[in-house]
Amino acid sequence: MAKDSIHKFCIAPMMQYTDMHDRYLLRLISRNVFLYTEMIATGSLIYGKCFNQLDFNDEEHPVGVQLGGSDINDLIECSKKSEQYGYDEINLNVGCPSDRVQKGKFGACLMLEPELVRDCLGNMKNAVDVPVSIKCRLGVDDNESYEFLYNFISIVKDSGIKIFIIHARNGILKGLSPRQNRNIPPLKYDYVYKLKKDFPELEIIINGGIKTLDECRDHLTKVDGVMIGRSVYENPFMLKDVESDIYGSIPITSSKKDVLGKYLEYVEKKLSEGHDLGRMMKHLFGLSRGDKYAKSFRIKILEIIKQKSLKGHKKELQDLLVY
Ligand SMILES: Cc1cc2nc3c(=O)[nH]c(=O)nc-3n(C[C@H](O)[C@H](O)[C@H](O)COP(=O)(O)O)c2cc1C
Repeated sequence: MAKDSIHKFCIAPMMQYTDMHDRYLLRLISRNVFLYTEMIATGSLIYGKCFNQLDFNDEEHPVGVQLGGSDINDLIECSKKSEQYGYDEINLNVGCPSDRVQKGKFGACLMLEPELVRDCLGNMKNAVDVPVSIKCRLGVDDNESYEFLYNFISIVKDSGIKIFIIHARNGILKGLSPRQNRNIPPLKYDYVYKLKKDFPELEIIINGGIKTLDECRDHLTKVDGVMIGRSVYENPFMLKDVESDIYGSIPITSSKKDVLGKYLEYVEKKLSEGHDLGRMMKHLFGLSRGDKYAKSFRIKILEIIKQKSLKGHKKELQDLLVY
């Protein structure tokens, strides 16, 4: 079951984190993981004309764009634009519980409007040739039963989409911050497993609180894919073992120094195109995770960000990595 899914191991969309630079870094460690952009609000694309938010590196494929919105016409326009940009998939965010997103009537509050979600996704699907997917929660507020989730998926699947990414906890719309909403509502993996049993024709990807590859292997016996956010950001080199342990292929690197060297070449190229050094360097913090000189490595990165220059620091940075 899980063997064939291109979504066997996905990287979670994370605003301010999984930008094009972070995704490039992850791709230096894993050839196979499926990447997603941060959420991009349809309003900012269409009315803010911020189309450069869609920029990504060719090396990132396979990569999906995540859209936030609930206006059908806007979603159609942004889906078409994203397809033209070359994305491999268009994902709709139905999981973000922030106040700002609720005011815009998108994100997790849409779990209360399954018919609207179905219509949005159906129209997006008809507008493009690439697959369309959803990332949602188990429920919102006190809608905690499996029946609520079952009903939501039953209606939404009539859009014709097949890929469902489920963050295995409820979203609480009032009273919890987005950060608390990622930690406090309890994880209920069994709901996601049951979903796969009840809808075997759908591709079900489980997300939330997954930390190790052992956990991933266990989930993969029950669902089609796993998605990890924070644990990979904090320790990107864990992706090296994903190649062998999850995909059964040969790791593309065994050396953090090698990854760092290639990433710094990329940083220098992007600097010459006007990209911000701090935004690119911060993704390296986790690379030294577990190493002897991890703290010194992080301090060195902070120094580079403060000085706004890489010059003269590259070798020193590389020497602070153990292998
Ligand atoms: C800083 C941060 C930003 C996030 N931004 C998004 C986002 O833009 N879209 C989205 O669907 N989820 C977003 N999430 C939620 C993650 O995609 C994921 O569902 C959540 O962190 C649980 O997975 P994890 O325990 O593996 O991190 C964000 C999470 C974090 C920590």
